[in-house]
Amino acid sequence: MTVDRIASRRYSELVDAEHGLVSRTIFSDPEIYREELVQIFSRCWLFLVHESQIPKAGDFVNVFMGEESVIVTRHADGNVYAFLNSCRHRGNKVCRVDAGNTKAFQCPYHGWTYNTRGELSGVPGYAELYHDELDRSAWGLVGIRVANYRGMVFGTFDPEAPTLEEYLGDMRFGLDLLLDQGEFVAVPGIARWQMDVNWKFASDNGIGDMYHGFWSHRSAILAGHTSGTGSTPTPAPAPRALGGFTLVSAYGHGFNANFLEDRQVDLKNPVAQWRLDPTVQAKLGPLRGRVNRANMLVFPNLFVNSGSREFMLRNPLGPAKMEIWKTTLVDKNASAEVQRAQARASNRHFGPAGMFEQDDGENWDQSTAAARGVIGQRYDLNYAMGIGHGRVVTDEQSPPRIDTLTNEHGQLWMYRCWAEYMSAGSWSELRAHHAEPQGTL
Ligand code: FES
Ligand SMILES: [Fe+2]
Repeated sequence: MTVDRIASRRYSELVDAEHGLVSRTIFSDPEIYREELVQIFSRCWLFLVHESQIPKAGDFVNVFMGEESVIVTRHADGNVYAFLNSCRHRGNKVCRVDAGNTKAFQCPYHGWTYNTRGELSGVPGYAELYHDELDRSAWGLVGIRVANYRGMVFGTFDPEAPTLEEYLGDMRFGLDLLLDQGEFVAVPGIARWQMDVNWKFASDNGIGDMYHGFWSHRSAILAGHTSGTGSTPTPAPAPRALGGFTLVSAYGHGFNANFLEDRQVDLKNPVAQWRLDPTVQAKLGPLRGRVNRANMLVFPNLFVNSGSREFMLRNPLGPAKMEIWKTTLVDKNASAEVQRAQARASNRHFGPAGMFEQDDGENWDQSTAAARGVIGQRYDLNYAMGIGHGRVVTDEQSPPRIDTLTNEHGQLWMYRCWAEYMSAGSWSELRAHHAEPQGTL
């Protein structure tokens, strides 16, 4: 896909990866936001649904890709399809409910009807008014390319995008850290809420901001809140280096994972019992088996937490607004008691009224508001923690990683990749010129 770009914009100047500086304008400028919809949200693989949300023929969920309304369906052939929720006649939404089961989508304006594969199957007055001349095969809903990674269904608008496997690359090592813990299904329903936040502040927290936990979440921890992993963090008197690692991968993804200390885990807690399963431990292997939980970002806007087990999409709705969609996962083979405990722990943590979610949302809201100031915009934000100290380790334990936990390598990586997307004219340009983790970050 070749696009017209704002010719004078120098995205590499707005993100100074060498010194760890990021311009505040990228969080507030409406033109930059508009271009993100083209360069990023029209081009990347975006998370749509977990396949357990549409198990039967005719099941559908109404989702967003960027600001576009999209229907994801399970057709009678058993396959998953996605298409724009916009009638080809005058553009109306053909589906106005969040989710359900149907044989067809009928437009409320003039009644054009589409099947669950998006094909135009019915046109009122086809013979008498259209004289049998409308080529119905050419007027189906606009189709979207879909692919599935271990039950996670993604879609892209860009026919030139690489395969989903290539797009996710080494990030699969992080996603497997969650997916190997059990056989997951989504809890019915998607929790949705809005925040006055630029989507990137949420994404950069998601890729790895262990620094803020000491301060932002201290009150929740002191109040006895646990993170949904069955381990109890100890409130630290001051930020300090904890055990764990950071992994970043091509095209903007990354995660950080903190190590478990045995004395912290209450294995009687239902949400921790999966750790007693030797099959799971064998799948995870020695490095991932030590992990308490990982905060992960699948670029651009999917946050995944391996501890409280959820997919959290941060859908953009403008430079200073986003809508969060939270899908909670449980192991389908776990007892009802364990499933209930896990879903409740997840919601207490990152649900709309979750203890940590409240803290994070308040911070991102303030960062977004400050990015609008014409004076404030003259002063870059600092993403320089650990710069020059992030030695990339390559061994058999994992894809390339950095053996520290509290740093800003992941966040700076995300902005570096953001600048690559914003500057590149096509996927072939991106594939030829993109950052890979190597040397020292
Ligand atoms: S707008 Fe859908 S049938 Fe006319
Ligand atoms: Fe947080």
